[in-house]
Amino acid sequence: MIGGSTMVCVILGHPLKHTRSPLMHNAAFAALGLDYVYIPLEVKPEGLSAIIQALREMENFGGANVTVPHKVRVMEYLDGRSQEAEAIGAVNTLYKSGGELWGENTDGRGFIASLREEVDFLPQGKRVMLLGAGGAARAVIQALVQEGAERIYLVNRTLQKAEELASSLNRRTGRSSLVPMGFDDPLFSGRLQECHLLVNSTSVGLSRDDSPLFDYRLLPSTLLVYDLIYDPELTPLLKAARERGCGILNGLGMLVYQGALSFEVWTQRRPPVEKMREAVKPMR
Ligand code: ATR
Repeated sequence: MIGGSTMVCVILGHPLKHTRSPLMHNAAFAALGLDYVYIPLEVKPEGLSAIIQALREMENFGGANVTVPHKVRVMEYLDGRSQEAEAIGAVNTLYKSGGELWGENTDGRGFIASLREEVDFLPQGKRVMLLGAGGAARAVIQALVQEGAERIYLVNRTLQKAEELASSLNRRTGRSSLVPMGFDDPLFSGRLQECHLLVNSTSVGLSRDDSPLFDYRLLPSTLLVYDLIYDPELTPLLKAARERGCGILNGLGMLVYQGALSFEVWTQRRPPVEKMREAVKPMR
């Protein structure tokens, strides 16, 4: 029940029609009997600074998530940002600390937690191929590098983007674990065979009409294939991977664990992960 002392959490994004975060967080608040509510605030980029100002004024602000298209722009309106958010270059979680509004990013750690909890996979010393070099890729790369992945092949349609991302991160870490390449690189197939994990962070697979990113018959059965897409549950990439005997994961786990980590930031309570997963599972 919402009352006068209920703490209010929000998600800022545009569009928000399909977001499952309210379902997930309201289920978590209910499970722990917390007097919190989570609501969508659909806001266009031109309204972002005003909304942030409003959140600052709210005495009953419980926390916020930030999603497309605001994750990068929101950073300039905050009083502080965690090291992780700085490293990723984007924020997905807001919280108040000592009257200041701070930004955190739980996407990368959510990704790592889902790998560990769902399939017992630890990136330390592993070779990874990551498809895509956009916003989602940055969080995944940062987390994989932090967890000690030995090498990450960064494959992107626009090679220049992969090159820029790889060189800036290699410079920062003082290592050369990030290797940019295109889908048409003659080394693509050989490098895929030597990897332990393949991650799709492109939008390919969201729509039925998408052409495949590469010839999925090249997938070795030893590979774990992780598609960050969770709707549809089984993208053509995951379907092909399963047929070839690979381990597969879709993006539902990352959604749940990034949410669980945000929940922990806001409430300092242990998140009810299974209740959260139950709440966002697609209807059958
Ligand atoms: P997100 O924040 O979800 O990562 P994004 O920043 O727009 O979204 O990045 C989308 C990624 O999907 C990019 O790497 C993009 O490749 P380009 O850099 O070449 O644009 C990739 N992508 C989108 N459609 C694609 C397609 N049809 N084939 C290959 N890659 C595609």
